[in-house]
Amino acid sequence: MCGIVGYIGKSQAAPIILDGLEKLEYRGYDSAGIAVYDGQQINMKKSVGRLKALVELTHGGAMMPGNLGIGHTRWATHGAPTDVNSHPHLNSKETIAVVHNGIIENYIKLRKKLENKGYLFVSETDTEVLAHLLDYYYKGNPLEAITKVMHRVEGSYALGVIFAEHPDRIFAVRKASPLIVGKSDEGCFIASDVPAILKYTRNVYFMENQEVACLKADELTFYSVDEEVIQKEPVTIEWDAKAAEKGGYEHYMLKEMYEQPKVLEETIRKCIIDDDIIIEELKMSEEDFRKISKIYIVACGSSYHAGVTGKYVIENIARVPVEVDLASEFRYRNPIIDENALVIVISQSGETADSLAAMADMHAKGVKVMGIVNVVGSSIARDADYIMYTWAGPEIAVATTKAYSAQLMALYLFAMKLGKAKSVLAQEEFRQMLEDMKLLPQQVEFLLSNQRKIQKFANRYIAAKSIFFIGRGIDYAISLEGSLKLKEISYIHSEAYAAGELKHGTISLIEDGTLVACVSTQEDLYQKTISNMVEVKARGAFVLAVTNEGNYEMQKEADYVIYIPKTNRYFTNTLAIIPLQLFGYYVAVGKGCDVDKPRNLAKSVTVE
Ligand code: F6R
Repeated sequence: MCGIVGYIGKSQAAPIILDGLEKLEYRGYDSAGIAVYDGQQINMKKSVGRLKALVELTHGGAMMPGNLGIGHTRWATHGAPTDVNSHPHLNSKETIAVVHNGIIENYIKLRKKLENKGYLFVSETDTEVLAHLLDYYYKGNPLEAITKVMHRVEGSYALGVIFAEHPDRIFAVRKASPLIVGKSDEGCFIASDVPAILKYTRNVYFMENQEVACLKADELTFYSVDEEVIQKEPVTIEWDAKAAEKGGYEHYMLKEMYEQPKVLEETIRKCIIDDDIIIEELKMSEEDFRKISKIYIVACGSSYHAGVTGKYVIENIARVPVEVDLASEFRYRNPIIDENALVIVISQSGETADSLAAMADMHAKGVKVMGIVNVVGSSIARDADYIMYTWAGPEIAVATTKAYSAQLMALYLFAMKLGKAKSVLAQEEFRQMLEDMKLLPQQVEFLLSNQRKIQKFANRYIAAKSIFFIGRGIDYAISLEGSLKLKEISYIHSEAYAAGELKHGTISLIEDGTLVACVSTQEDLYQKTISNMVEVKARGAFVLAVTNEGNYEMQKEADYVIYIPKTNRYFTNTLAIIPLQLFGYYVAVGKGCDVDKPRNLAKSVTVE
């Protein structure tokens, strides 16, 4: 989604803003723009396409003097990606500049009203309404104009605003679209995500809904929508700024895949203490655990896929019924939730609009929500009643890898704690699971070291029309994620099917040479899955099997086998996903796709 960066301080603003926008490139965008006040007027530059074009146009920002400015990367919603539609947007006198993330829902009505009052619009965007509305309300007091606008507009917004008549300040405004404010000795910053300013400061203020921040070079004040001053505490971000850089890898996605052993180790280091599971931030008592009668896991995309794995693991080791829902569907199906149910919302970013909306809906119904979130201080992390963090560090590539693996770990740990609290998971099994878990980092490392073999195999499929993934039970969950990884970055059509379901229709799509990746890690289901492999082979499919070391039977039926090291039956997804991630990655690289920034996708989906 769109990215916002703003700076006011001792240094030249434009290079800092462009640098910050570069860090937000992973969010997905199709044009970029910047507005800087040079001491006399607001200067603006915009460019369609990659940020690089804007960087070249401004000589890395050098040709835009001034210590105060705002910048934006736009992901087109209202109006095509053109220079005119790019942000910032100005009022007609060019004295007010606005950048905006989100959607102004009543913009058509507001635009008509403003046009009737003589305002001239140049773009098709909803954002331009904000620039003219600010102009309309501005009578010398910028804060007053902003709060009046906040009362008039409906929808979601994170805004950066500058006024030529107040060249000593930037305003940041937030409603339902993430925005942070940072402060250092060099100045103050606004950004839609932490990596944009991590190089400059670790002191970050997370803005709440309907708040306004006024940033001066050395002063920061927060206001409510009623213009009352609010006290806010900064959060210290512990992420390593280097973690948000490519560090010599060809793509962020590759780097992040290779970080997975470290991420698992970090989870183990933090949460397994003296042969027990301690989740420090999860303030849930044994009694709270015992009371849980049912769990609803709610999430989107890969986080949803982690939830599907979570269902199998929780139901099996804690014997608590679990339903898994896509966040965008959950709230509209009017679920019947009893008072001892727990809703778990899983989100890497903690800002996904569908997940946030589902959570708000649950809160309105008095249901307790636990968040499994990667970004400390994000909206879901703040609003959840209980929180479990995933320890993946900043994830930049649009296609998630390490955060997904960290989500699986969080779900295993939660399931084990629940199983123990419910006295369903025997102490000995619990202890064995901890031991098996401790081996996962080196097992993942081993699988990653087979990268060359998978690359060679992947190269055979860069021209594939369609690729299927099948599996049963927990292996179906991993098939969903393997299929998504491939299609989102390689643009090859792919579907994941419960292995037994294929014959009920989809098998008609199998042609000579179609690749079917078959995941089979559950011993009691080997034979059943082999039958499904035989079915597709008989229709001409080429079968890739992902199975456990030692299951050499598979070689007789599959055309190509990838073995994963032996582990606890509930942890196999952590291992089976590695070759599938590598496969998707290398198919996309072989096709020459922009792996880190796949078309039409955004890292943090902040619109419903
Ligand atoms: C796919 C991917 C997305 C996200 C989804 C939810 O690789 O990353 O499917 O998983 O958009 O995002 P979060 O987890 O931030 O709520």
